[in-house]
Amino acid sequence: MISKTVLVTGGAGYIGTHTVLHLLLAGFKTVVVDNLDNSSHLAILRVKELAGEFRNNLSFHNADLRDRDALEQIFVSTKFDAVIHFAGLKAVGESVKKPLLYYNNNLTGTITLLEVMAAHGCKKLVFSSSATVYGWPKKVPCTEEFPLSAANPYGRSKLIIEEICRDVYNAEQDWKIILLRYFNPVGAHPSGYIGEDPRGVPNNLMPFVQQVAVERRPALTIFGNDYNTIDGTGVRDYIHVVDLADGHIAALLKLDESDIGCEVYNLGTGKGTSVLEMVKAFELASGKKIPLVMAGRRPGDAEIVYASTEKAERELNWKAKYGIDEMCRDQWNWASKNPYGYGSQKDSTD
Ligand code: NAD
Ligand code: WQD
Repeated sequence: MISKTVLVTGGAGYIGTHTVLHLLLAGFKTVVVDNLDNSSHLAILRVKELAGEFRNNLSFHNADLRDRDALEQIFVSTKFDAVIHFAGLKAVGESVKKPLLYYNNNLTGTITLLEVMAAHGCKKLVFSSSATVYGWPKKVPCTEEFPLSAANPYGRSKLIIEEICRDVYNAEQDWKIILLRYFNPVGAHPSGYIGEDPRGVPNNLMPFVQQVAVERRPALTIFGNDYNTIDGTGVRDYIHVVDLADGHIAALLKLDESDIGCEVYNLGTGKGTSVLEMVKAFELASGKKIPLVMAGRRPGDAEIVYASTEKAERELNWKAKYGIDEMCRDQWNWASKNPYGYGSQKDSTD
């Protein structure tokens, strides 16, 4: 059993909760810092319940990463072996309207974290990057060496943080940093007890589909059916959030075993699925019909994006286990048990 202590920033969020649960079950002591800007304390309580005998290995601090004093106190009270850094704002459209909010939160939060980590001699980091840094790739599958670009301030914040991490390692080579580029995380824990609960109108495909299925929204708008793909709709690499959570454990173990420097890995399945294929799989899993409205392309969307998984398989010894049928089954299980996420109809923003 592992007896290490990990700080998880943004651990109350969608990917964070699933990862924290897996960390606890693997024997890690886990400290979460989250300002609950896009999450609920109930999610932390549910993770504790799911963790059973390991529940007391989880502690939670409601704090903003940019609050240096609060972060200092957390590092003074606990010695961390590593940090997994999820905390950040992630809505692409909002980032276009409020770039300074995104740069302030994502960049200042990360810089403050890195400074406090260095001051306390904790120099092992796993960072949540994104496939968004591949922009509209010229070919697929995307390998980690592809040229990088950003189509919006959110994506640019990820690119800049990746560069900051490379600079930090180049300056002080006792840092060990893994940048994980997630493709499209979907699904939920099979218990149906934790899952994704976005505030307001969902930006992403599957949370929107889920809200149509529970009749919170009348129809799914398909953004473009004139792409050069199997059925004209955009193709993405959807990955089960439980597989993604496991990818973080693999990354942590990698930080321990080797002189890794600053290294980047894709976390995807390597398979492309169109919007219509995904909708069909969800209809099958849920028994619900999803009404569709065809619309034009969404600005900034790429045609086809999916991952090369070779590097992660080879070096992290990690491979996604689940396909879209399991993703849709678990997403529906979560949605049907929690149609209003962690809240209730009364406090929803519909
Ligand atoms: P999420 O919004 O559910 O979780 C992020 C968490 O960070 C939230 O709980 C939020 O309250 C917290 N947070 C934000 N700013 C903070 C701050 N300044 N201080 C403290 N806490 C703060 O998002 P998620 O889907 O779980 O994504 C986690 C990470 O993965 C993010 O960095 C995101 O950009 C990245 N990512 C997500 C996806 C995706 O599609 N979900 C894809 C690629 C990368
Ligand atoms: C998937 C497909 C849409 C909604 C985004 C971010 C990326 C990463 C993951 C954080 C596309 C189509 C969607 C809808 C639709 N997040 N779609 N109707 O765009 O691949 O990536 O989330 O890092 O940075 O950009 O994911 O789920 O928004 O879209 O037709 O209501 O579904 O056009 O083809 P995307 P998505």
